[in-house]
Amino acid sequence: MKSVSIKAVLATAPESQQVTVNGWVKSFRNDRFIALNDGSTLKNIQCVVESNQFNETILQQITVGAALKVTGALVESQGRGQTVEIQVTDIFVHGTADPEEVKLTILSPKKHSLEFLREQAHLRVRTNTFGAIMRVRSALSFAIHQYFNQNGFQYFHAPIITGSDAEGAGEMFKVTTLDAKKTSLNEAGEVDYKEDFFGKETNLTVSGQLEAEAYAMGLGKVYTFGPTFRAENSNTSRHLAEFWMVEPEVAFNDLNDNMDLAEDFIKSVVRYALDNCMEDLAFLQERLLNEEKSKPQVERSEMALIEKLRFVVDNDFKRITYTEAIDILRNSKPNKKKKFTYPIDEWGADLQSEHERFLVEKHFKCPVILFDYPAKIKAFYMRLNEDGKTVRAMDILFPGIGEIVGGSQREERLDVLKSKMEALGIPEEELWWYLDLRKFGTAVHSGFGLGFERLVLFATGMGNIRDVIPFPRTPQNAEF
Ligand code: 4AD
Ligand code: MG
Repeated sequence: MKSVSIKAVLATAPESQQVTVNGWVKSFRNDRFIALNDGSTLKNIQCVVESNQFNETILQQITVGAALKVTGALVESQGRGQTVEIQVTDIFVHGTADPEEVKLTILSPKKHSLEFLREQAHLRVRTNTFGAIMRVRSALSFAIHQYFNQNGFQYFHAPIITGSDAEGAGEMFKVTTLDAKKTSLNEAGEVDYKEDFFGKETNLTVSGQLEAEAYAMGLGKVYTFGPTFRAENSNTSRHLAEFWMVEPEVAFNDLNDNMDLAEDFIKSVVRYALDNCMEDLAFLQERLLNEEKSKPQVERSEMALIEKLRFVVDNDFKRITYTEAIDILRNSKPNKKKKFTYPIDEWGADLQSEHERFLVEKHFKCPVILFDYPAKIKAFYMRLNEDGKTVRAMDILFPGIGEIVGGSQREERLDVLKSKMEALGIPEEELWWYLDLRKFGTAVHSGFGLGFERLVLFATGMGNIRDVIPFPRTPQNAEF
């Protein structure tokens, strides 16, 4: 008999029809009630076993963590919180799980810390919390593709191995086939990339933007959504060495169009989660409320998770210039300490996350789009404003997250771009192809990058970015 997902079975009317499900045992109570979960939904199906109908060997194998195939009649359930259950007639054990060994893992049925779950990242998806997070992550990523597809964008695949540093921040992982110990060191004892596979220095991409620009200047509206890599040694709850980025790029869009697109896009994907993931979101919200209750030192959030998501969908993001933000920050005192750790003394300083979070969480109490940043603190490719000192950059700041989006209108004037690159010491030979785009039919164009894990953090209410990606890569950590 063909098996069906537990999600589908739970939504079926119980008419004593035969069903077969597969899943992992969550619990086996009173030698009678198996709670089985297959990951299709947060909920378990209750499978009722009459132990006198099964031999002892089979019954002994029904332990937490074991994988089973269960067949039986789908009937109405008397149990609380469930409409249907299976009266089991047949059990096949796909794989056992030794209870003594299970005890040492996160599969053992008790509350484990998120830190402990991280140590067993290969098993944590079987917990309710990670099942919920990863289903929301999957739904959001579908929503992203759906949004762009419905809005006339082409999905463009940016290369992972590149020869350019899109952000000019030097935070790249080098790609090499060379065994530095054996061969091809130059006289200074460094790896000689000219002798290597690509014949030049290459790295894992920090952003697909530059290549996306090339494609926007032919396909008009493109987006890329893939892994990006940054060797920034920041051990924070918001940074990963490998993260997924969503990067749309649109020919003929200016900065205002870019802000409109980003706001509409974010609202649309969050709305998708609200419309399609309510069961998981409600579970994650409950989890957060319990955590706040059990830890009095944790600051209570003003809004519960689902309310927060609805708020973002229903309200305009506040748009202000960097200069306006600096004025606000200079004249504000963050709550208790009355002082920022990094006081904003002068125009031109980069905002720290304490400033960003103050603007969003305390001052405006809504998502904020900051734009027109000082040229000095932003990347080389951003379009210079008429004032000669600011660029058409935009960052979107989110409550509880800080920066979730970074984007800009791109410098489309060849001469301005060249002099900018020269001033920053970026050789033209390295980006000759990027300059070509300004020679052959250049045009105003814009785009942005959204850090996908930061979006998932926001949508799930989780506090650490390591808990919203299956196998996190951070400094000193690539175990799995
Ligand atoms: O602001 P960033 O560096 O912008 C760019 O890379 C542009 N080239 C994007 C573009 O215009 N196409 O990065 C964009 C976003 C950030 O706002 C943040 O959400 C996320 O990527 N991000 C990270 N997320 C997790 N870990 C890291 N180390 C991240 N660095 C950036
Ligand atoms: Mg940024």
